[in-house]
Amino acid sequence: MTHDAIEVILAKRDAAELSDSQIDWVIDAYTRGIVADEQMSALAMAILLNGMSRHEIARWTSAMIASGERMSFAGLSRPTADKHSTGGVGDKITLPLAPLVAACGAAVPQLSGRGLGHTGGTLDKLESIAGWRASLSNEEMLAQLDSVGAVICAAGDGLAPADKKLYALRDVTGTVEAIPLIASSIMSKKIAEGTGSLVLDVKVGSGAFMKSLATARELARTMVDLGTDAGVRTVALLTDMDTPLGLTAGNALEVAESIDVLAGGGPADVVELTLALAREMLAAAGIDDVDPADRLADGSAMDVWRAMIAGQGGDADAPLPVAREQHVVPAPADGVLTRLDAMAVGLAAWRLGAGRERKEDSVQAGAGVVWHARPGDTVTAGQPLFTLHTDTPERFERALAALEGGYHLAPSGTPYTPPPLVRDRIA
Ligand code: URA
Repeated sequence: MTHDAIEVILAKRDAAELSDSQIDWVIDAYTRGIVADEQMSALAMAILLNGMSRHEIARWTSAMIASGERMSFAGLSRPTADKHSTGGVGDKITLPLAPLVAACGAAVPQLSGRGLGHTGGTLDKLESIAGWRASLSNEEMLAQLDSVGAVICAAGDGLAPADKKLYALRDVTGTVEAIPLIASSIMSKKIAEGTGSLVLDVKVGSGAFMKSLATARELARTMVDLGTDAGVRTVALLTDMDTPLGLTAGNALEVAESIDVLAGGGPADVVELTLALAREMLAAAGIDDVDPADRLADGSAMDVWRAMIAGQGGDADAPLPVAREQHVVPAPADGVLTRLDAMAVGLAAWRLGAGRERKEDSVQAGAGVVWHARPGDTVTAGQPLFTLHTDTPERFERALAALEGGYHLAPSGTPYTPPPLVRDRIA
């Protein structure tokens, strides 16, 4: 049955439920350029305003999967486990997590993206390692999964091309934040990729898409249902993104912090979340005889990291790039840090050159922010609170403006109870 774009837009504008054939038609016609960008923008806005039923979201996701190829890991000897984060500040967890879970016996196919806006991208981080390349053919990816057990690479053009087009359009039309569109975007790529199990890290807080626990729960529930209905064992953790993760935001800075975790050190919150996600991934993959903490401690996760980097042309021993200029922000008074705002830190790192404003921009490998205290820490006046890194010092002023008001120092002795890092679990 054939349709036209105006009919589909009017139906959703008037809050009707779209039929299966309307959804199949509009996704296919948009992918082939028959439905124009301005028409898809209107439809995306109608979806943002009027929502979609569970059935519509499932059908929309299937139509996006059908717009491209489906991969298969059926030939691998290990069970596959993947993880997806909805994006946060200082969120370098994929870097230690993928080799750690591989060291425990799963195969981890981690198709990742680049950063846009204030959240960093995993591929941008890894590209700060000399020689490392993000693009692999499907054959190269399968071969590395077989030999090393973990691969982090760019999603090929063949995977859910409808989503590629639609995501770029949503980014410039104020329609990113629609739960049906976020859920179908993420899950179409994960289901098409062919993973057997998936753990979702749904971020909630000031530095995340989802600012409230209620909306984060709704997004998690929608994605878990989509995965489960498609035969992928799917679990979601809702994790805090009011405070940035670890002590660094920026590409090479976050690689260095991830290596610290793989070496058995690193900030406690990064280690805690890496282990929590690893345990969920292993359980979903049916591996219950290994404790990932042991694999961090005995160096086997680090061995997989080195093999994973070398497998993609990277030199794991090469020094990481360092920004040409640094600027230290001292603590203005004695006190207890009771708030460090993820959005403020993410914005500062972005303005220093760690992120991009337009898709075609390049990023600075060494740029970013290091914070020397985390909420709950006591500081004394004059001690470094932040160090800002950039190759282009004219950026310092706007980064400093982003940090203003982004933290709070309470009088010394003020009690502080940290909020839980993992706020909920949805299966
Ligand atoms: N990541 C995606 O892949 N899609 C979205 O819509 C949001 C985050």
